[in-house]
Amino acid sequence: MSGTTAIDREFFAKHAESARRAEEARTIFPGGVTHDARHFEPFGIVIDRAVGPRKWDVDGNEYIDYVMGHGALLFGHSHPYLVEAVTEQVARGTHMGGSSELERRWALAIQRLLPSAEKVRFTSSGTEATMMAVRLARAATGRDRLLRLRNHFHGWNDSVFAAGRTSAGRIAANGQPEAMQNLLSIFDQTDVPGIAAALATEEYAAVILEPSGYSWGTCPLDPSVPHELRALTEQTGALLIFDEVVTGFRASAGGIQERIGVRPDLTTLAKIAAGGLPGGAVVGRADLLDQISFEAGNGRVAHPGTFNANPLSAVAGERALRAVAEEDPISIANERAAQLSRGLNRALLEAEIGGCAWADASMVHIILGQDVARPDDGVTWDWDQHGGASSTLPTSPSVVAWSFRRAFINHGVDLMGMGALVSCVHTEADIDSTIDRFGAALADLRRDEIL
Ligand SMILES: Cc1ncc(COP(=O)(O)O)c(C=O)c1O
Repeated sequence: MSGTTAIDREFFAKHAESARRAEEARTIFPGGVTHDARHFEPFGIVIDRAVGPRKWDVDGNEYIDYVMGHGALLFGHSHPYLVEAVTEQVARGTHMGGSSELERRWALAIQRLLPSAEKVRFTSSGTEATMMAVRLARAATGRDRLLRLRNHFHGWNDSVFAAGRTSAGRIAANGQPEAMQNLLSIFDQTDVPGIAAALATEEYAAVILEPSGYSWGTCPLDPSVPHELRALTEQTGALLIFDEVVTGFRASAGGIQERIGVRPDLTTLAKIAAGGLPGGAVVGRADLLDQISFEAGNGRVAHPGTFNANPLSAVAGERALRAVAEEDPISIANERAAQLSRGLNRALLEAEIGGCAWADASMVHIILGQDVARPDDGVTWDWDQHGGASSTLPTSPSVVAWSFRRAFINHGVDLMGMGALVSCVHTEADIDSTIDRFGAALADLRRDEIL
């Protein structure tokens, strides 16, 4: 990073304390960060505290936050009823060393919203949930091969984390046994004929996908594809796993599966499911989950885990899902996301800058500096307009994306990559202000001759 543009100079000037702490962090953490997605150039802002839709960094800068806990926070940061539930539980015990009523209530809250969840097994993260889903599928089918879709993300376990490009654009297969990689077949998300031919070999334990399209819908997936995958897996004895770690309880109360009317065999959940605390679950057909039961004898699938169904995650998850069922936070977040998408498209049009924004439920995606059609209504991805189903989308050129992110941060907005996870506590005024700041960031990019 040369640090020569005005955007970069402002970034350094506004974030001196973050820069100092980021430098120190490099001596403690590999690369100075604790999650690949937190890698930022020239350094990431260091956050001090967060409430509602906002957060503050160690330099005292305030942000409207759209990272929202990597999508875990449908209710914003530290929502009062989640604070209350967790605080009460801390005093009543953070680990019961046995079964608890809390986990039963949490599971019932999931089942209330997700009819395919005939049985539930809690894990500590989304990664663990996909790991267990694949293990259950392999045990049930007696097959080892797994079919996944290119660029779809299912956490970092070896079963699903394929060699390929990370979001930071690097090849990341080191340390992953070739034997595991060889069990994975990867197809473009629209290559239904290729998938059909592979499944016809009857070698596959399962097909796993983000039913929204890859990276929480960064490249949308035509709903006809999951429908076709449902039929193909049924015909060939493979199982269908929906990874709804991001979309569960966000895309609709019952996730993408409810919206498109496809019932997968297994579903993986985390993030909102655990009320924004660490936690996940694999849920689905009772006969598949029951392989974990001790009644399965020698055929059982093992599943320990110190923090499975942790009480703090259980109370937060139960409270969040009760609110999803009874208060409809999803509609509010969706309305705000639509408002944001419309405003971003308007700003692009006014600035005469190529790109577009669109929203799927409360997930907003932005492409910048590319010649792409904008949604007619400013919000909805239009399949006809974009030539039908696509397997990849033009992405923002990386120099544009990095500079834009820095400029947006300078103006007090933090995104998740090139997208926004909107919560039900973002107000209309927050969204209007975000759109104004977007216009200001675009002007900075123009001034610095980046766009
Ligand atoms: C679709 C999807 N699946 C799985 C995971 C992994 O979840 P976790 O980070 O809780 O391990 C993620 C994380 O962002 C995800 O987006």
